Amino acid sequence: MNTAKRYLITSALPYANGLKHIGHLAGAYLPADIYVRYLRAGQKDVVFVCGSDEHGAAITIQAMKEHTTPRAIVDKYHAILESNMADLGISFDIYHRTSDPLQHETAQEFFAHLEKNGDLETRESEQFYDEAAQTFLADRYITGTCPVCGYTNAYGDQCEKCGSTLSPEQLINPKSTLSGNPPVLRPTRHWYLPLNKHEEWLRGWILGEHGNDWKPNVLGQCKSWLDAGLQPRAVTRDLDWGISLPAGTPGGEGKVLYVWFDAPIGYISATRQWAKNTGRDWKPYWYDGDTKLVHFIGKDNIVFHCIIFPVMLKLHGNILPDNVPSNEFMNLEGDKMSTSRGWSIEMEDYINDFVKKEHGGGMLVDALRYYLTVIAPESKDSEFTWKGFQDAVNSELVAIFGNFVNRSFVLMHKLCKGKVPPLHTPRMDDADRNMLSAFEKTKAVTEQLLEGYKFRDALFEVIDLARKGNKYMQEKEPWIIAKSLEQTPGNQELIDNCLHICLQLTANLAVLINPFLPNTARKMLYMMKVVEKMLDWENAGKTRLLSAGYSLRAPELLFRKIDDAEVMEQVEKLKAKAAALSTAAGDTSAAIPAATEVAPVKAEIQYDDFAKLDLRVGTIVSAEKVAKADKLLKLEVDLGFEKRTIVSGIAMHFSPEEIVGKQVTVVVNLAPRKMRGIESAGMILMAGDADGKLKFVNPDEPVANGSEVS
Ligand code: MF3
Ligand code: ZN
Repeated sequence: MNTAKRYLITSALPYANGLKHIGHLAGAYLPADIYVRYLRAGQKDVVFVCGSDEHGAAITIQAMKEHTTPRAIVDKYHAILESNMADLGISFDIYHRTSDPLQHETAQEFFAHLEKNGDLETRESEQFYDEAAQTFLADRYITGTCPVCGYTNAYGDQCEKCGSTLSPEQLINPKSTLSGNPPVLRPTRHWYLPLNKHEEWLRGWILGEHGNDWKPNVLGQCKSWLDAGLQPRAVTRDLDWGISLPAGTPGGEGKVLYVWFDAPIGYISATRQWAKNTGRDWKPYWYDGDTKLVHFIGKDNIVFHCIIFPVMLKLHGNILPDNVPSNEFMNLEGDKMSTSRGWSIEMEDYINDFVKKEHGGGMLVDALRYYLTVIAPESKDSEFTWKGFQDAVNSELVAIFGNFVNRSFVLMHKLCKGKVPPLHTPRMDDADRNMLSAFEKTKAVTEQLLEGYKFRDALFEVIDLARKGNKYMQEKEPWIIAKSLEQTPGNQELIDNCLHICLQLTANLAVLINPFLPNTARKMLYMMKVVEKMLDWENAGKTRLLSAGYSLRAPELLFRKIDDAEVMEQVEKLKAKAAALSTAAGDTSAAIPAATEVAPVKAEIQYDDFAKLDLRVGTIVSAEKVAKADKLLKLEVDLGFEKRTIVSGIAMHFSPEEIVGKQVTVVVNLAPRKMRGIESAGMILMAGDADGKLKFVNPDEPVANGSEVS
C-alpha cells in the first residue's frame, strides 16, 4: 500500500534530436502517466516531471545533419515533443528542458558540490581525436561495429540495435562521424566519478534492500554491472555544446558536463521550475526521506538511473529512488523499432493519422494507450503489430468494455425511463450479489497490481470486470422479462435490479479505467452527468455511486472499430518509409532482422560445381493446397519457355492467394520427383532465418520469365 507522504515521478528525458516513437511512449511515458493518474485519483501529493534532454552529441550531430545549429534543433524538437506528449494524454506537471538557465545553475551547483567535497577525481587519458576536424570525439561522434551484436552503425556510447551501453574504445573499426576517418588517440584531462568507491553500498542498497521489490530485469542488469566491477566514469567532455563547468574550475575551460551527468539533474531543475510556477517548495521532494521517488525508463537507461545517478544523489545529499520500473523493448512488426532506420511509428504519425483526423480523437488516444498497455514490454520484449492493435481495439475495447456500457445505457433508457432504477433488495438473487461484490474485489486486485507497476495485469482486471458485467446481463436478459410485463408487472423489479447493478458497475468502470484511458472515463462522466470528483479512487468498489431516480444522458460511442483498410494502409506506410530510408542511406541493414543464429558455411566447391545448377526466374501463376498435406502447395510456375508444376513445402508460410503473381527463383534442372502423387519439376529457392520464417529469393525488380540467375 502506498503510504509515502509525497511522490515524485519522473519519465526519462527524451533527447530533443528528433521524433520519438510509440516504443518510447510505451516504455517510459505511458506507464508513468498511468501510475500518476492513479496516485492523483487517490488524492496523493504527487509531482510528475519530465522535459527535453537538449545536450550531448545526440543534438550536435542532428544539427550537422539538418545543416543548422544545436539551438535550432532543440527549439524545434522540444516544441514538437511537448505537444506530442500532451496530445497523447501524458499529464506531466511540468515538461522542462535542460538548456534552461535554471538547469545550468542546478547542474553547476551539483558539480561544484561534489568537486568541493573531493568526490570527483581528475585524470588524463587517451581519447579519440579527429585530426581533420581537430576535435575530440565524444560518444556519438564515433561509430563502428557493435562488439555485442555486430551492427555496423553503433554509436560510441550505445548500440541502437541491441541496446548495449558501450564506450568508444569497444567499437570495432571506429570512425569519426565528422570526417569519416579512423580517429587517433590523444591525451586529455577529465573529471571522473569514482563509481568503484561506491560498489559496496550500491550492492547492499540494490540487491539487498531492493532485491525483492525491483523488477527482475532491472536487478539482473544491475547485478551484472556490479559483478563486472564498476569503473570511474568521466563526467566531463570536450565539446562546445552543453553546460560548462562552474566558472573558475581550474582546467575546466572548453569543457562541458557529460550529458548523462547533466540530464538526470534535469529532474531536479524541472521540479524547481514547477515549484516556482506553482508557488510550492521543491526541496522536500528531493531531500525528505518521506518522498517516494520513482524513475520510469526504458532498459537502455538502467545503469544511469540505478547506479550512476544514485551515486551522484547520495554524494549530493539527496534521497534515492524507491523504484526504477524499467521496461524492455517493444518491437514492431517483426523487427526492432528504430527511428533512424525508418522502422517505427512516431508518436506524431499516430497523432496525425488517427487522433487529429477525426472529431473526438480522444477515443483513438485511448485506443493506443490501451493496446500499448496490453502489450507493454514489462518483463520481456514485446511486439506491436497493426493487426494486434486492431484485434485488441475491436474485440476487447469495443466488444467488451464499450458494448457493456452501451447496452446498460440503451436498456436503461428503454426499460427504466432514462433513470437509474431503484434496487429492490428483497428480490435480489445470488447473481446480483456476486456481481456487486466483484466491484470491491476488482478494486483491491487492480490497486495491488498498480502499486507493483504491473500495468498490463491491472488493466486486464478492469476489462475482466466489464466482461463479467456482460455475462451477468446476458444471464439476466432484462429484455426478455420486459416482454411479459403485462402478465407479471411485478417483474419490473427484476429489470430494475439488473440495470441498477449494471449502471453502478458502469460508474465503477469509469473510476477503474481512468488512470489508463482518461478520455473514456471523462466521456462516461458526461453520460452519467456526474462531476470529475466521482473518479476519486476511493469510489472504486462502491456499489452506490449513482442515486436511484437520477436521469442519465443517452449513450455515446466510447470506441470505434479499426477497419482492415486502416491496418493495411499503416503496414504499407511502414514498409515504404523503411525502404525509402534504406535506399537514401545506402544502408541495406534497414529493416533487416538481427541474425539470431547462423548456419555454418558448407564445404568449399569449385565453379564447375556451381555451374551445373540451372537457375531461372519464373512467375507463380497459380497455387493451391495439396490435399492431406498441410505443408505442401502445388504451384504452376511460368518460366517463359514453359509452364511447370512444382510442389513446394511452403504452405505453413504463405496462403495460395498471397503468392500468385510473385517472381521466384527456380532450380530448373533438378530431377523431377513425385510428392503425394504429383510430379514436381523443379525447386523454388527460399531464404530461411533461424526463426524458421521463409522468404522468396527473387530479383529486386521484375525481369522476364526464364531469365538466368548466375
Ligand atoms: N535522453 C536519454 C535517452 O533518450 C534519457 C535521459 S534520462 C535522464 O536515452 F535521466 F538523463 F534524464
Ligand atoms: Zn549491438
